[in-house]
Amino acid sequence: CGIVGYIGRRDVAPLLLEGLQRLEYRGYDSAGLVITSPKSAGLRMVKAKGRVRDLEARVPRRFAGTTGIAHTRWATHGAPSDENAHPHLSQDGRVALVHNGIIDNAAELRTRLEAEGVVFASETDTEVLTHLIARSGAESLEEKVGQALKSVEGTYGIAVMHADFNDRIVVARNGSPVVLGIGEKEMFVASDVAALIAHTRQIVTLDDGEMATLKADDFRTYTTEGSTTTATPTTVEWEAESYDMGGHDTYMHKEISEQAEAVDRVLRGRIDDRFSTVHLGGLNLDAREARGIRRVKILGCGTSYHAGLIGAGLIESLARIPADAEPASEFRYRNPVVDPDTLYVAVSQSGETYDVLAAVQELKRKGARVLGVVNVVGSAIAREADGGMYVHAGPEVCVVSTKCFTNTVVAFALLALHMGRIRDLSVSEGKRIIEGLRRLPEQITEILQTEDDIKKLAEEYAGAQSMMFIGRVRGYPVALEASLKLKEISYIHAEAYPASELKHGPLALIEPALPTVAIVPDDDLLEKNRAALEEIKARSGRILAVAHREQEKADHTIVVPKNENELDPILMGIPLQLFAYHTALAMGRDIDKPRNLAKSVTVE
Ligand code: G6P
Repeated sequence: CGIVGYIGRRDVAPLLLEGLQRLEYRGYDSAGLVITSPKSAGLRMVKAKGRVRDLEARVPRRFAGTTGIAHTRWATHGAPSDENAHPHLSQDGRVALVHNGIIDNAAELRTRLEAEGVVFASETDTEVLTHLIARSGAESLEEKVGQALKSVEGTYGIAVMHADFNDRIVVARNGSPVVLGIGEKEMFVASDVAALIAHTRQIVTLDDGEMATLKADDFRTYTTEGSTTTATPTTVEWEAESYDMGGHDTYMHKEISEQAEAVDRVLRGRIDDRFSTVHLGGLNLDAREARGIRRVKILGCGTSYHAGLIGAGLIESLARIPADAEPASEFRYRNPVVDPDTLYVAVSQSGETYDVLAAVQELKRKGARVLGVVNVVGSAIAREADGGMYVHAGPEVCVVSTKCFTNTVVAFALLALHMGRIRDLSVSEGKRIIEGLRRLPEQITEILQTEDDIKKLAEEYAGAQSMMFIGRVRGYPVALEASLKLKEISYIHAEAYPASELKHGPLALIEPALPTVAIVPDDDLLEKNRAALEEIKARSGRILAVAHREQEKADHTIVVPKNENELDPILMGIPLQLFAYHTALAMGRDIDKPRNLAKSVTVE
């Protein structure tokens, strides 16, 4: 979900709507806003099920105010509807609140409040907070909010307005991001910098347990208990333009197209030709410690988990350290054995995914060393980790991840090379990988130039009900990610299998109506992969191969440039991003905002 708020002198409704547009990728099933002004004695609210543009259509023509908070929602408790959209008002209409996160004890609090006579207007967990604040006997708004927060368990990023204190917005954070934007005689608040960057580069990121009061001319931060904290604004690096579509029809297309430059950025300044290695200053891991590592465990969700799978393969092959990846969401619920000689690596584009953050916190509680591989600078996971690498993909807005996936895998190649060179990897091997890495941007451009051909193929396969993706060893995570991409945006059912496992079950599905996308690199497994194509052909299955040369058994082949075997997965995934994109486009899907999904899932 996304939060944005403003207090200053400007007309607030257009500012809030613009901020919501920029945050829409965080949730888009309903939206709402509430405003006031120093002269007005009340709050005015508008909400709508649907997109921000549906909300915009409902905002009355005369809707003047200079203070306001707004929200775009991704439903957890309660279906998308006008009532369940945020903000939520107290019964007397004097308190308004927007919330990201989940209040775990909402049911219990609701029963108690209802017994006391409170009538609820929605099914959300959030609404309890509004009533708690309204019913608090404390004097100041800050104390009322602080007191209400003491009764709730769960996670939150909230922004609160009160008709009796209309010179301020009070915000609080616990587990769900809150960023303040510091302007000239105006203040902003948002759940991420995307909503602020067009107005100010000066930001303050709240910590868990911290609150803030925003007034037009100043702000202050303090703990839930009321003791003052220090907050020094920092400057955000990302350009406002990088949040715009820049001439593309969708963010996904823009982000796919940016990958050559993005890869260039993750490499920049890190390669050391003299010693055929890389410098990763942020790891906070000296060579002696790094040599003591016996195992690497990579944790992430969704696409980041898939990047981690390729990363694990790179670490095993270049550094010869046993490595594996696991969904962070699963890991933390099986009371994992935390081993002091294991290096844990948390992967996250946003740096906010709750399941990953919670896994990091659990690991740290048990004394583990955790690195972060993160895109968003200063995000929760980056801050919580002991060190790590930023992947420098730039802002990624489309709900499904493309350029950040590629950059994350390249970042893992750097980590693997670094770890390899302080252990067993030779100078010449290091040099071979570095040269391969340097070829990537140009080869990515070459792949992107074949978009028209990929588009034609996608249009041909777009009628399929279901698709199979296969790959072997290094190619298997490529298949997993390509199948995820296709299902996320086209809603075609897709599954990925190791090519070697085909004969142990899924071969039963193969028939002309179920096409297979096969990853067939020119490496030591080429013959094995070709055998899988034979098995499919013998059952009259259609095959689209992604390979380094035409595959005779395939109905179609997308030929990609060859790099070093270890780095091939990076390139082989890219045409399949375009394939998913054009399939979804041919089917008329809303590519940047696939149904039921959100870019950052900050709840469990
Ligand atoms: C959500 C998004 C996915 C993303 C995953 C992990 O589920 O829809 O596209 O891969 O979160 O996000 P992260 O920001 O942690 O990489």
